[in-house]
Amino acid sequence: MLLHKQIELKLQAAVLAALPDADVSAVLVRPCDPKFGDYQSNALMSLAKQRKLNPRQLATDTLAKLDVSEWCEKVEIVGAGFINFRLKPAALAQTLEAAARGEHLFFDKAAQPKTAVIDFSSPNVAKPMHVGHIRSTILGDCLTRTLRLLGHRVVADNHIGDWGTQFGMLLLGWKTILDQSALKTDAIAELERVYKTINERCKADPQNLELAKQELVKLQGGDAENLRIWHEMIRLSQVQFDTIYGRLGVKFDVTLGESFYNPKLKPLVEELLAKGIARESEGAIIIAFDDVPALKEQPTLIRKSDGGFNYSTTDLATLAHRLQTWSPDEIIYVTDGRQQLHFTQVFTAFRKWHGESKAKLAHVWFGSILGEDGKPFKTRSGETVKLADLLDEAEERAFKLVSEKSGDLPEAQRKEIARVTGLGAVKYADLLPNRQSDYIFSWDKMLALAGNTAVYVQYQFTRANKVVRDGAPTLGLQPSAIRLTEPAESALAKFTSFYENCPVLKADDAATRASRLALCDLTARVLKQGLATLGIETVEQM
Ligand code: ARG
Repeated sequence: MLLHKQIELKLQAAVLAALPDADVSAVLVRPCDPKFGDYQSNALMSLAKQRKLNPRQLATDTLAKLDVSEWCEKVEIVGAGFINFRLKPAALAQTLEAAARGEHLFFDKAAQPKTAVIDFSSPNVAKPMHVGHIRSTILGDCLTRTLRLLGHRVVADNHIGDWGTQFGMLLLGWKTILDQSALKTDAIAELERVYKTINERCKADPQNLELAKQELVKLQGGDAENLRIWHEMIRLSQVQFDTIYGRLGVKFDVTLGESFYNPKLKPLVEELLAKGIARESEGAIIIAFDDVPALKEQPTLIRKSDGGFNYSTTDLATLAHRLQTWSPDEIIYVTDGRQQLHFTQVFTAFRKWHGESKAKLAHVWFGSILGEDGKPFKTRSGETVKLADLLDEAEERAFKLVSEKSGDLPEAQRKEIARVTGLGAVKYADLLPNRQSDYIFSWDKMLALAGNTAVYVQYQFTRANKVVRDGAPTLGLQPSAIRLTEPAESALAKFTSFYENCPVLKADDAATRASRLALCDLTARVLKQGLATLGIETVEQM
């Protein structure tokens, strides 16, 4: 078991000894700012508040019952009632040795693995993936990797938008104005052009709109020609999506578009009507939430008066399918914050429909990416930024930087470093800020060599890794070698001061060399694992 977990259990026991009926599930011990110690717990303050006790008194009473002298040299009560723990170097060394032996890498696997379905990325067919899709893709991928690392089962599900009224216009355009050679060169750009042109024509002339509607009705009715074209548009889009996913290293277990659920919508609405969950309103079918204060004025539409179905209808059918197929403990939807109302409605409607389900439903929403001017991030000419262009630019900018710093490396190697650091920079910058705030996209900040950036962490990996590669062949790697004597060894997490203060391969005695080498090896492994969990690669040299 990890050290902080062991301390946590002892602390919980001590709290119970001082307050026998306390709920200690929220009494946690977490790593803290090294200024204060190694670990900290702030739980006693909220516990004291709940029970109207003096927090410092509760902390004092708890400490009187707490014995962690096996691992800690000092336990202190600070401020309003924080408890700070400082580890004994020997206890720290023991943990490090267990990690070096491969027993853990500073995290525990879940005792009870759960199954989660994660719905993320979910772009729309026949449109280029743009900068708005990057957040869902990266956050969803990172959640997938994190849950898997902790031992959970994850179904990564790409719910692509491959159905809807836009196909009426796309079909009309495909049949009347498609440029075959442009389709061959850049299918998505051509589909986008076709859609835009027809959309304008429809606005200008209702006759065109009527034609587009007829194409849609034919598609919905199963017309062979329209189905063939529709399938071709999906295939072309998937090629584009797959190129981007390949670059980002993102994989899905299933890609089931909205169209997959289409046959289930009619019976679904009928079932909801029969059960009295849905009702008619002005020719349409709605689910009203009169019993839910926050949604009182916000019914959700599940069938339009013309018989067409809605986004919510598809999402309810999708939910039912996922529960039936994978029996997940949790379903997580990763989309931008503008869909909050939609998911609140879908989740609430689902509870009315399947009150017995224990599945947790979560909308992991995020803020927007803004340009340096604080407005939605656009190209210089004012258009939405295409994801492929953004990734190209990241690699180009990184290539320039690598060439300035390490011009002596062969070009192919500089290109590979640029790929890994450029894409890493974009991902890291996206994961760094508070997920729900908007953030300003800044190339300079995300590619900075110093600071909280991917490049910095990747560089620290190569540094530790290089020491290991140089030293391991002659010194051998010995997990049991770790002894922490220098403060900078304990503070290796602060990296740079370690290398300055603690030479590794040139240290005087063999035991110190072996110990520091094993520390470098662990550091490299932790950094690599951490970055990999964020979906970020590393290189051997940069
Ligand atoms: N295709 C949608 C969009 O681009 C996102 C779908 C999210 N997932 C879902 N189950 N509704 O906005």
